Amino acid sequence: MNVRKAVIPAAGFGTRFLPATRTIPKVMIPVLDRPTIHFAVEEAAEAGIEQVILVVSRDHRATGDYFDHIPALDAFLKERGNEKLLEEMNKISDMVETVSVYQDEQRGLGHAVLMAKDAVGDEPFAVFLPDDIIWSESPTIGSMIEVFSEYEAPVIAVKEVPDEAVPNLGIVDPRPVSELVSEIVAMVEKPKLEDAPSNLAIIGRYVLTPDVFDALEEIQPGAIGELQLTDAIDVVRRTRRAYAYRFPGTHFDVGVPAGLLKASVYAALHRDDMAEDFRKWLNETSLA
Ligand code: G1P
Repeated sequence: MNVRKAVIPAAGFGTRFLPATRTIPKVMIPVLDRPTIHFAVEEAAEAGIEQVILVVSRDHRATGDYFDHIPALDAFLKERGNEKLLEEMNKISDMVETVSVYQDEQRGLGHAVLMAKDAVGDEPFAVFLPDDIIWSESPTIGSMIEVFSEYEAPVIAVKEVPDEAVPNLGIVDPRPVSELVSEIVAMVEKPKLEDAPSNLAIIGRYVLTPDVFDALEEIQPGAIGELQLTDAIDVVRRTRRAYAYRFPGTHFDVGVPAGLLKASVYAALHRDDMAEDFRKWLNETSLA
Protein backbone atom coordinates (compact mmCIF):
# COMPACT_ATOMS: atom_id res chain seq x y z
CA MET A 1 0.00 0.00 0.00
CA ASN A 2 1.26 3.44 -0.87
CA VAL A 3 2.19 5.75 2.02
CA ARG A 4 2.42 9.25 0.60
CA LYS A 5 2.42 11.47 3.67
CA ALA A 6 4.45 11.86 6.83
CA VAL A 7 3.75 13.86 9.97
CA ILE A 8 6.64 15.32 11.97
CA PRO A 9 5.73 16.76 15.38
CA ALA A 10 8.14 19.65 15.95
CA ALA A 11 6.37 22.15 18.19
CA GLY A 12 7.86 21.31 21.59
CA PHE A 13 9.53 23.91 23.82
CA GLY A 14 12.70 21.81 23.87
CA THR A 15 13.22 22.38 27.57
CA ARG A 16 16.17 19.98 27.64
CA PHE A 17 17.99 22.32 25.27
CA LEU A 18 17.36 25.56 27.13
CA PRO A 19 18.79 28.16 26.90
CA ALA A 20 19.44 27.48 23.17
CA THR A 21 15.73 26.84 22.58
CA ARG A 22 14.65 30.22 23.99
CA THR A 23 14.71 31.45 20.40
CA ILE A 24 15.61 28.46 18.19
CA PRO A 25 13.22 25.54 17.63
CA LYS A 26 14.78 22.39 19.07
CA VAL A 27 14.59 20.65 15.69
CA MET A 28 16.80 23.37 14.20
CA ILE A 29 19.72 22.54 16.48
CA PRO A 30 22.30 20.85 14.25
CA VAL A 31 24.20 17.60 14.16
CA LEU A 32 27.36 19.10 12.62
CA ASP A 33 25.89 21.37 9.92
CA ARG A 34 22.39 19.91 9.47
CA PRO A 35 19.43 20.61 11.78
CA THR A 36 18.07 17.43 13.32
CA ILE A 37 14.79 17.72 11.40
CA HIS A 38 16.75 17.52 8.15
CA PHE A 39 17.48 13.84 8.84
CA ALA A 40 13.81 12.94 9.33
CA VAL A 41 12.70 14.74 6.17
CA GLU A 42 15.55 13.24 4.19
CA GLU A 43 14.62 9.74 5.36
CA ALA A 44 11.00 10.36 4.35
CA ALA A 45 12.03 11.60 0.90
CA GLU A 46 14.37 8.64 0.37
CA ALA A 47 11.50 6.28 1.14
CA GLY A 48 9.34 7.90 -1.55
CA ILE A 49 7.09 9.92 0.74
CA GLU A 50 5.68 12.84 -1.22
CA GLN A 51 4.48 15.27 1.41
CA VAL A 52 5.73 16.06 4.89
CA ILE A 53 3.37 17.75 7.34
CA LEU A 54 5.35 19.69 9.94
CA VAL A 55 3.49 20.28 13.20
CA VAL A 56 5.07 23.49 14.46
CA SER A 57 4.49 26.23 16.95
CA ARG A 58 3.31 29.55 15.51
CA ASP A 59 6.43 31.45 16.55
CA HIS A 60 8.81 28.88 15.13
CA ARG A 61 8.60 29.67 11.43
CA ALA A 62 12.27 28.77 10.94
CA THR A 63 11.34 25.08 10.72
CA GLY A 64 9.07 25.40 7.68
CA ASP A 65 11.29 28.06 6.10
CA TYR A 66 14.29 25.72 6.20
CA PHE A 67 12.72 23.53 3.49
CA ASP A 68 11.82 26.47 1.20
CA HIS A 69 13.97 28.21 -1.36
CA ILE A 70 15.82 31.20 0.08
CA PRO A 71 16.15 33.51 -2.98
CA ALA A 72 18.66 35.93 -1.41
CA LEU A 73 20.96 33.06 -0.41
CA ASP A 74 20.61 31.39 -3.81
CA ALA A 75 21.46 34.66 -5.57
CA PHE A 76 24.46 35.20 -3.29
CA LEU A 77 25.87 31.72 -3.93
CA LYS A 78 25.29 32.12 -7.67
CA GLU A 79 27.07 35.46 -7.72
CA ARG A 80 30.02 33.96 -5.89
CA GLY A 81 30.08 31.05 -8.35
CA ASN A 82 29.58 28.55 -5.53
CA GLU A 83 27.63 26.10 -7.69
CA LYS A 84 28.32 23.13 -5.40
CA LEU A 85 26.78 24.73 -2.33
CA LEU A 86 23.94 26.15 -4.41
CA GLU A 87 23.15 22.67 -5.69
CA GLU A 88 23.17 21.34 -2.12
CA MET A 89 20.79 24.10 -1.02
CA ASN A 90 18.43 23.38 -3.92
CA LYS A 91 18.43 19.72 -2.98
CA ILE A 92 17.04 20.65 0.44
CA SER A 93 14.21 22.77 -0.92
CA ASP A 94 13.40 20.24 -3.66
CA MET A 95 13.63 17.17 -1.42
CA VAL A 96 9.90 16.86 -0.75
CA GLU A 97 6.82 19.07 -0.45
CA THR A 98 6.42 20.37 3.10
CA VAL A 99 3.38 21.99 4.67
CA SER A 100 3.08 23.38 8.18
CA VAL A 101 0.18 23.00 10.60
CA TYR A 102 0.12 24.61 14.02
CA GLN A 103 -0.03 23.21 17.52
CA ASP A 104 -1.01 26.05 19.82
CA GLU A 105 -1.14 24.09 23.06
CA GLN A 106 1.37 21.59 24.37
CA ARG A 107 -0.91 18.67 25.23
CA GLY A 108 1.37 15.83 24.27
CA LEU A 109 2.55 13.80 21.28
CA GLY A 110 -0.94 12.43 20.59
CA HIS A 111 -2.30 15.97 20.45
CA ALA A 112 0.50 17.04 18.09
CA VAL A 113 -0.33 14.21 15.66
CA LEU A 114 -4.05 15.04 15.89
CA MET A 115 -3.26 18.56 14.59
CA ALA A 116 -2.35 16.91 11.25
CA LYS A 117 -5.72 15.12 10.87
CA ASP A 118 -7.12 17.31 8.07
CA ALA A 119 -3.81 17.51 6.24
CA VAL A 120 -3.47 13.71 6.24
CA GLY A 121 -7.07 12.90 5.32
CA ASP A 122 -8.28 9.34 4.94
CA GLU A 123 -5.06 7.50 4.08
CA PRO A 124 -2.23 5.71 5.87
CA PHE A 125 0.65 7.92 6.94
CA ALA A 126 4.06 7.86 8.57
CA VAL A 127 5.09 9.65 11.75
CA PHE A 128 8.69 10.66 12.47
CA LEU A 129 9.86 11.91 15.85
CA PRO A 130 12.81 14.10 14.89
CA ASP A 131 14.55 13.44 18.26
CA ASP A 132 15.24 9.94 16.97
CA ILE A 133 17.86 9.75 14.24
CA ILE A 134 18.39 6.32 12.70
CA TRP A 135 21.28 5.72 10.33
CA SER A 136 20.98 2.56 8.28
CA GLU A 137 21.69 1.27 4.80
CA SER A 138 18.16 1.85 3.61
CA PRO A 139 15.62 4.22 5.18
CA THR A 140 13.95 2.61 8.21
CA ILE A 141 10.57 4.06 7.31
CA GLY A 142 10.81 2.43 3.86
CA SER A 143 11.24 -1.02 5.42
CA MET A 144 8.34 -0.28 7.76
CA ILE A 145 6.12 0.66 4.82
CA GLU A 146 6.88 -2.78 3.35
CA VAL A 147 5.79 -4.43 6.62
CA PHE A 148 2.69 -2.25 6.60
CA SER A 149 1.82 -3.38 3.06
CA GLU A 150 1.99 -6.98 4.22
CA TYR A 151 -0.16 -6.67 7.36
CA GLU A 152 -2.26 -3.56 6.65
CA ALA A 153 -2.02 -2.58 10.30
CA PRO A 154 0.03 -0.01 12.23
CA VAL A 155 3.78 -0.65 12.36
CA ILE A 156 6.02 0.84 15.05
CA ALA A 157 9.83 0.88 15.24
CA VAL A 158 11.24 -0.67 18.42
CA LYS A 159 14.57 -1.43 20.03
CA GLU A 160 15.83 -3.10 23.19
CA VAL A 161 16.69 -0.52 25.88
CA PRO A 162 18.34 -0.75 29.31
CA ASP A 163 16.13 -0.87 32.43
CA GLU A 164 16.77 2.77 33.38
CA ALA A 165 15.32 4.00 30.05
CA VAL A 166 12.06 2.03 30.34
CA PRO A 167 10.04 4.52 32.47
CA ASN A 168 10.63 7.30 29.92
CA LEU A 169 9.49 5.46 26.80
CA GLY A 170 6.61 3.55 25.23
CA ILE A 171 7.06 -0.19 25.80
CA VAL A 172 5.54 -3.08 23.83
CA ASP A 173 4.83 -6.71 24.59
CA PRO A 174 5.92 -8.54 21.42
CA ARG A 175 4.85 -11.88 19.95
CA PRO A 176 7.45 -12.60 17.20
CA VAL A 177 6.15 -13.41 13.72
CA SER A 178 9.50 -13.17 11.87
CA GLU A 179 13.10 -12.21 12.53
CA LEU A 180 12.42 -8.47 12.76
CA VAL A 181 8.62 -8.27 13.07
CA SER A 182 6.41 -9.01 16.10
CA GLU A 183 2.74 -8.65 16.69
CA ILE A 184 2.16 -6.26 19.58
CA VAL A 185 -0.02 -7.90 22.23
CA ALA A 186 0.13 -4.99 24.66
CA MET A 187 1.67 -1.53 24.75
CA VAL A 188 2.07 1.00 27.52
CA GLU A 189 3.48 4.51 27.69
CA LYS A 190 6.14 5.28 30.30
CA PRO A 191 5.48 2.29 32.61
CA LYS A 192 7.18 1.76 35.94
CA LEU A 193 9.97 -0.74 35.40
CA GLU A 194 8.14 -3.39 37.44
CA ASP A 195 5.00 -3.01 35.29
CA ALA A 196 6.80 -3.04 31.91
CA PRO A 197 6.00 -6.08 29.74
CA SER A 198 9.51 -6.07 28.18
CA ASN A 199 12.51 -3.87 27.44
CA LEU A 200 11.41 -3.32 23.87
CA ALA A 201 10.86 0.43 23.46
CA ILE A 202 9.09 2.47 20.82
CA ILE A 203 11.50 4.59 18.79
CA GLY A 204 10.13 7.50 16.76
CA ARG A 205 9.04 5.91 13.50
CA TYR A 206 5.45 4.83 12.90
CA VAL A 207 3.28 3.84 9.94
CA LEU A 208 -0.32 4.42 11.00
CA THR A 209 -3.84 4.04 9.67
CA PRO A 210 -6.16 7.08 9.68
CA ASP A 211 -8.48 5.52 12.30
CA VAL A 212 -5.82 6.51 14.84
CA PHE A 213 -7.25 10.05 14.59
CA ASP A 214 -10.65 8.84 15.88
CA ALA A 215 -8.83 7.12 18.73
CA LEU A 216 -6.86 10.31 19.47
CA GLU A 217 -10.16 12.18 19.75
CA GLU A 218 -11.52 9.61 22.19
CA ILE A 219 -8.66 8.96 24.58
CA GLN A 220 -8.09 10.77 27.86
CA PRO A 221 -4.75 12.20 28.99
CA GLY A 222 -2.44 9.35 30.01
CA ALA A 223 1.17 9.21 31.22
CA ILE A 224 2.49 12.56 32.52
CA GLY A 225 -0.99 14.02 31.99
CA GLU A 226 -0.59 14.18 28.20
CA LEU A 227 -2.53 12.77 25.24
CA GLN A 228 -0.32 9.83 24.31
CA LEU A 229 0.05 8.49 20.77
CA THR A 230 0.82 5.06 22.28
CA ASP A 231 -2.62 4.97 23.96
CA ALA A 232 -4.39 5.80 20.67
CA ILE A 233 -2.45 3.13 18.75
CA ASP A 234 -3.37 0.68 21.50
CA VAL A 235 -7.07 1.42 20.82
CA VAL A 236 -6.55 0.75 17.10
CA ARG A 237 -4.52 -2.38 17.89
CA ARG A 238 -7.48 -3.94 19.67
CA THR A 239 -9.56 -3.89 16.49
CA ARG A 240 -7.02 -4.35 13.72
CA ARG A 241 -3.71 -5.51 15.36
CA ALA A 242 -0.40 -3.64 15.32
CA TYR A 243 3.18 -4.72 14.62
CA ALA A 244 6.59 -3.86 16.00
CA TYR A 245 9.61 -3.64 13.70
CA ARG A 246 13.10 -4.12 15.20
CA PHE A 247 15.03 -1.89 12.85
CA PRO A 248 18.59 -2.66 11.89
CA GLY A 249 20.67 0.51 12.11
CA THR A 250 22.28 2.95 14.50
CA HIS A 251 19.93 5.05 16.61
CA PHE A 252 20.60 8.25 18.53
CA ASP A 253 18.26 10.19 20.80
CA VAL A 254 19.19 13.74 19.86
CA GLY A 255 16.48 15.10 22.17
CA VAL A 256 19.07 15.34 24.95
CA PRO A 257 22.41 17.19 24.72
CA ALA A 258 24.54 14.08 25.37
CA GLY A 259 22.70 12.17 22.63
CA LEU A 260 23.20 15.07 20.22
CA LEU A 261 26.91 15.03 20.99
CA LYS A 262 27.14 11.27 20.40
CA ALA A 263 25.29 11.63 17.09
CA SER A 264 27.63 14.45 16.08
CA VAL A 265 30.73 12.37 16.85
CA TYR A 266 29.28 9.42 14.94
CA ALA A 267 28.41 11.65 11.97
CA ALA A 268 31.87 13.24 11.93
CA LEU A 269 33.50 9.81 11.88
CA HIS A 270 31.35 8.83 8.88
CA ARG A 271 31.77 11.95 6.74
CA ASP A 272 34.31 11.89 3.95
CA ASP A 273 35.10 15.57 4.38
CA MET A 274 36.02 15.34 8.06
CA ALA A 275 36.47 11.71 9.22
CA GLU A 276 40.24 11.57 8.76
CA ASP A 277 40.98 14.83 10.53
CA PHE A 278 38.56 14.15 13.34
CA ARG A 279 39.80 10.62 13.96
CA LYS A 280 43.37 11.91 14.07
CA TRP A 281 42.39 14.52 16.64
CA LEU A 282 40.55 11.89 18.73
CA ASN A 283 43.61 9.64 18.69
CA GLU A 284 45.93 12.47 19.70
CA THR A 285 43.74 13.75 22.50
CA SER A 286 43.04 11.98 25.72
CA LEU A 287 40.09 14.02 26.96
CA ALA A 288 38.50 11.46 29.27
C1 G1P B 1 7.70 9.52 22.68
C2 G1P B 1 6.68 8.39 22.67
C3 G1P B 1 7.30 7.13 23.27
C4 G1P B 1 8.57 6.77 22.55
C5 G1P B 1 9.54 7.98 22.51
C6 G1P B 1 10.71 7.65 21.59
O1 G1P B 1 7.97 9.88 24.01
O2 G1P B 1 5.55 8.78 23.41
O3 G1P B 1 6.39 6.07 23.18
O4 G1P B 1 9.18 5.66 23.18
O5 G1P B 1 8.90 9.15 22.02
O6 G1P B 1 11.58 8.71 21.45
P1 G1P B 1 8.60 11.31 24.41
O7 G1P B 1 10.06 11.20 24.11
O8 G1P B 1 7.90 12.33 23.56
O9 G1P B 1 8.33 11.47 25.88
